[in-house]
Amino acid sequence: MLERLVYISTAAPDLTVPEVRRIVARSQMRNRQLDVTGMLLLVRSEFLQVLEGQRDMLDEVVGYISRSPRHQDIRLIERQPITTRRFDGWHMGLLVTDALADQVEALKARRTSVDAVIEAMRANADLM
Ligand SMILES: Cc1cc2nc3c(=O)[nH]c(=O)nc-3n(C[C@H](O)[C@H](O)[C@H](O)COP(=O)(O)O)c2cc1C
Repeated sequence: MLERLVYISTAAPDLTVPEVRRIVARSQMRNRQLDVTGMLLLVRSEFLQVLEGQRDMLDEVVGYISRSPRHQDIRLIERQPITTRRFDGWHMGLLVTDALADQVEALKARRTSVDAVIEAMRANADLM
């Protein structure tokens, strides 16, 4: 079954953007093998990641993610079945921008939907 998982976490205090790029480069190889797609957003010192894939593959990737010392305080926002991917072909996009800070805050407060945030991520990714 195709599923989507969204979480928010806090970046390790000493984590740099070049290190985040290296994490994403390594992740892309594994995600490609597991056919996991999605996008990682870094807003200030918080990550928001959208992951799409078959249930078992998502479980495997979530295992790697939750064991990484590069972030902490991982909060699951949503995990649910989906019919279509929103990040088809992106074996992990990376978006580093504070422009989405308000959307992330709104999602944490449940004042906006995951779908609205995904659309904002896609719109910003297209600008880059
Ligand atoms: C914010 C964040 C996002 C990650 N996303 C993925 C991912 O999409 N796919 C994956 O296989 N691993 C992902 N990981 C896990 C690590 O990249 C991976 O396990 C790493 O190569 C282990 O090395 P490390 O201990 O240096 O972090 C992520 C880790 C972090 C911190």
